Amino acid sequence: MSRARIVVLVSGNGSNLQALLDAAASGELGGDVVAVVSNRPEAYGLERARGAGVPALAVAPEQDEPRAVYDARLAEVVAGFSPDLVVLAGWMRILTMGFLGRYPDKVVNLHPALPGELPGVRAIERAWDERTRGERNTSGVMVHLVPDEGVDSGPVLATATIDMTDFTTLDDFERHVHHVEHRLLVDAVGNLCRQSTSPTEVSP
Ligand code: GRF
Repeated sequence: MSRARIVVLVSGNGSNLQALLDAAASGELGGDVVAVVSNRPEAYGLERARGAGVPALAVAPEQDEPRAVYDARLAEVVAGFSPDLVVLAGWMRILTMGFLGRYPDKVVNLHPALPGELPGVRAIERAWDERTRGERNTSGVMVHLVPDEGVDSGPVLATATIDMTDFTTLDDFERHVHHVEHRLLVDAVGNLCRQSTSPTEVSP
């Protein structure tokens, strides 16, 4: 049975990418990271990819480049790797339908909050701020499909709830969120890999 081909898009550190690379290498993932692409040439995630022997490409936006033009360029680069899945792992740009329309049901995003909560950047810090104001006791992590330009929304694939009362500092909370993210992302992408490569059933 063939293994799912995964392209990962990153903008920064790439610790979630690393979790995918490790799970691919151990066989746990049931798929291979065939390329890593970043909008930021200096993203450490590209180093991680090179370290794992995976093609690492920077596709940086040109100055004043319209979003649609950039997304079409990005889609061409990604298409060159024939992905079964495109995983946004700390990808900090909104993708338009020019990209998403080419990969229906194949683009997966990770967000460090529960469905419908804290969309956008700095979700972990904002959850912590709400906690310190006594406005919440729980937060979490979700993995979801990205069907359209909605920010951190779309059909949910997996969630994990985190009890924030276990933590006394933002650093501790954040470290735990990342730990949970790594596990949830590997589980959710692993499930999709198994679905995308399962043999078609044939009736006798
Ligand atoms: C993660 O918290 C992810 O959920 C968010 O950005 C962070 C990326 O971390 N979208 P890393 O680059 O994978 O270490």
